[in-house]
Amino acid sequence: MSNDTQISAKVSSVSKSQGEFVSPNMSIEPVSAKTVNDHLSIGGCDTVELAKTFGTPLWIMDEQTIVQSVLACKAGLSGYPQTQVFYAGKAFLCLAICHLIKNMNVGLDVVSEGELYTAVQADMPAKSILLHGNNKSQEELNKALEIGARIVVDNLAELKLITQIAKTKNTQAKILVRVIPGVTGDTHQHIQTGQEQSKFGIALSSLPAVVSFIEQNRQYIKFLGLHSHIGSQIHKLQPFTQTIEILAKTYASIKDDFGLTLGELNVGGGLGIAYTAKDKPIAIETWSRTLAQTVMSEFNKYNLPLPILLVEPGRALVGTAGVTLYQVGFDKWTSNGTHYVALNGGMADNPRPVTYQALYTACLANRMGAPKGSQPITLVGKYCEQGDIIIKESLIAPEDGDLVAIFDTGAYNASMASNYNRTGRPACVLVADGKAEIIIERETNTDLIDKDKVPKRLLKDSP
Ligand SMILES: Cc1ncc(COP(=O)(O)O)c(C=O)c1O
Repeated sequence: MSNDTQISAKVSSVSKSQGEFVSPNMSIEPVSAKTVNDHLSIGGCDTVELAKTFGTPLWIMDEQTIVQSVLACKAGLSGYPQTQVFYAGKAFLCLAICHLIKNMNVGLDVVSEGELYTAVQADMPAKSILLHGNNKSQEELNKALEIGARIVVDNLAELKLITQIAKTKNTQAKILVRVIPGVTGDTHQHIQTGQEQSKFGIALSSLPAVVSFIEQNRQYIKFLGLHSHIGSQIHKLQPFTQTIEILAKTYASIKDDFGLTLGELNVGGGLGIAYTAKDKPIAIETWSRTLAQTVMSEFNKYNLPLPILLVEPGRALVGTAGVTLYQVGFDKWTSNGTHYVALNGGMADNPRPVTYQALYTACLANRMGAPKGSQPITLVGKYCEQGDIIIKESLIAPEDGDLVAIFDTGAYNASMASNYNRTGRPACVLVADGKAEIIIERETNTDLIDKDKVPKRLLKDSP
């Protein structure tokens, strides 16, 4: 292999160096990842230099991967009359990402006052914002109504509150109603949301009561359509197509029973990405094309006009773009032969393994050509939990001073990160065309105590 060979051949079964097009979510490494002079390079930036300049742990986001993922999603939808892509901001959100997606005409799905605030600060237009959540606060609803964003209603009590607020503001809330299709996605149970027992959304059997309520309050509620999101990191198409079949049938019932033709349909996100060579996700374009084709065929079946089709992927647009760089620290062997190698980060910057046993792939960013070890090692974090394990069995063979890169940390890492053990969250850089720009500053010790207050009586020299 030449120095400049794409590392795909190393860490994934599909080789980009042979000129095949690989959907970004099917590859373990970011689109722009290469090996240059034995170093991992992303976005034209040498990661060893990035570590020197910005420190570690470091979150790196590859702009090209995000752009190609969005374009792939849009390409799959291109045969459908009217569509709108929303990025699910919970996957990874900051002002720079808002601007990046806004510049590509992608909207934002927000789920909290903070995400909504971020969207507004990035001048995201109201027509491009969707507010989600199973327990939205009055402040969140107020704000969404004030700016005219669409609200995805989770339950009847919330709908009643929205109606009340809309009345006092003498406005009309634009809503979609989240329904539970009763479909179980092929994913970890903590991130399944389409099954009957889900905490999100309204059971189909309760929908007529909700629609009746809307009908009685039409002055204040503009009913745009239904929404469904069946979960995350889903690798099969069948749960998505089954959901659309159920939704189309539900649109037909709403038309029959209430004479209502709904203008929009939001089929959620949930597409998986490859974290290890064993993961075989669906290509982004295949996923979005299948959604579009299924909506067309199912709505035609019931002679329904095609609604505007909304999708809201998160992980599939940003997950593969992210790489976390760590410095190797101490190692040790246990009596039963486990070889632990500790990294200078862990569950505070990446809570996915401890939360749902997520798997990852690693490489040595400063010695890409290093031979694999003969025995697996366990890459652990530095936090005070035995469960703080980044990879249980990895064949990389780190030595003192090495830099470990963990792939696919672009989604649900920074956004789920904490300050556990009073550790500042890492910096995040966006890389493109050989340039690395900070998009989130590293938190300092000063940041950590910034909000602390000490009651005066606890100060020894207080009067
Ligand atoms: C309502 C909703 N839409 C979209 C998403 C994005 O999911 P994913 O990142 O798997 O695409 C989520 C994530 O949980 C969600 O709850």
